[in-house]
Amino acid sequence: MTPDKNRIYLFDTTLRDGEQSPGISLNSREKLEIADQLAKLGIDVIEAGFPITSQGDFEAVSLIAQKVREPVIAALARAVDADIERAAEALKDAARPRIHTFIMTSDMQIEHQLRKTRDDVLKMAIHAVKKAKSYVDDVEFSPMDATRSDFGFLCQVLEAVIASGATVVNIPDTVGYATPDEFGKLIRDLIEAVPGMRDVVVSVHCHNDLGMATANALAAVVNGATQVEGTVNGIGERAGNTALEEIAMILDTRRNTLGKHTNIRTEEISRSSRLISTLTGYQVQPNKAIVGRNAFAHSSGIHQDGVLKQRATFEIIDPKRVGISESALILGKTSGRHAFRKHLESLGHKLNDEELESAFLRFKDLADKKSEITDVDIEAILADEMRTLLDVFALEYIHVCGGTDETPTATVKLRKNGDIVEKTSQGDGQVDAVCNAIQRATGVTAKLISYNVNAITGGLDAQGDVTIQLDIDGKPVLGRGVSTDIIEASARAYLNAINKALSS
Ligand code: KIV
Ligand code: ZN
Repeated sequence: MTPDKNRIYLFDTTLRDGEQSPGISLNSREKLEIADQLAKLGIDVIEAGFPITSQGDFEAVSLIAQKVREPVIAALARAVDADIERAAEALKDAARPRIHTFIMTSDMQIEHQLRKTRDDVLKMAIHAVKKAKSYVDDVEFSPMDATRSDFGFLCQVLEAVIASGATVVNIPDTVGYATPDEFGKLIRDLIEAVPGMRDVVVSVHCHNDLGMATANALAAVVNGATQVEGTVNGIGERAGNTALEEIAMILDTRRNTLGKHTNIRTEEISRSSRLISTLTGYQVQPNKAIVGRNAFAHSSGIHQDGVLKQRATFEIIDPKRVGISESALILGKTSGRHAFRKHLESLGHKLNDEELESAFLRFKDLADKKSEITDVDIEAILADEMRTLLDVFALEYIHVCGGTDETPTATVKLRKNGDIVEKTSQGDGQVDAVCNAIQRATGVTAKLISYNVNAITGGLDAQGDVTIQLDIDGKPVLGRGVSTDIIEASARAYLNAINKALSS
């Protein structure tokens, strides 16, 4: 079969570069759920983690390698033996393993961070690729800070790693410094100048420090790159990475002009975005392209009038194409376990009996309080349940009282290994009081960095989705909780952050 030269491969690094965002810490089960969804989305390569960095990362990569069989599973490794051995070990059960090894090539980073010479870097890169190649056939090499590297040296390193067996060379704009014209030209010039470059996959990895990550990746594609790296919702180190949903929808929407396509099942985009936002605690900005909640909302009268007459007047993408459909009333108070399980299955969630039981109880509880329950509500409950599976402390009960002329007081009951801990505390407000009571009950002292509340759907009876960032022992930790009651959602979010800190 002749390779499709117009096919662009998407490499998702949500679980590696995305997880490097401050405060994100996902457990193995959450990472597996994300990897499963990325596979459904049609991602070609999932970078599952950086195994040398922690036992947790190692285990998550191994688990994903065992369970997610269709996409290539990549593990990151610096160009040193110990990293490569650990990556190979984590990938040993993968159907399609890839080791991704990297080393800095800009003089700035070689001198000031690595404290080595160009010659050392060249030797380390060659050695790393050969070493990785002794474990797996598919080896990706990245010259870190490529856009600030000397062009001649960059060519020399790339030629050497291709000769040593690299199958993918990835050009990172590590610090998000390049402009689209420069980056496109760099890719074109490298393809021209480096022997062997036309025989490997040419990949790009752009950061968004100047807001150009998607534009740079697109410029690279136009100039010959065949793999784009990025994350869902554009999360990642500092200002983040190229948002893969943007690349997928640019190539889809402008296919006639650009002539390139991906393997993405675009209808899975919205669900992928919601899952990642829920599990990471990183909310999507409302006006974010493709996945922001306002991306398809028309508020000006002229626009609304146009869309009602003919959608294409002001809408270049049919929302259904990215998986957004009208929120439908799907289940109600009288729905039983069977209907609930069937509906979850239709949404792609398979729960074991215990998980189903606790999700069902939450659903019934919600159905008593909220008249219309949508898929978004159900997914929020499921994510909240998943967050609590490995918890040290479980929330059993809260009681809060207060008012304009009364000091707010809260009592919480938590369960730890079957024992109940009950504490009461006061605070400046009811949320403060409940958080203070949780601190007393868990014995964990935390400093509040940020607090955010969002309504999951419309309506006064909507579930509130609270995201809290705490500083615990000098480390930022995110917590999230949902409930129709804001105080309960806040308590859940606060406890979720404490549980994460205790189990990391
Ligand atoms: O930004 C970067 O350079 C990276 C590399 C590891 C590819 O994340
Ligand atoms: Zn990066």
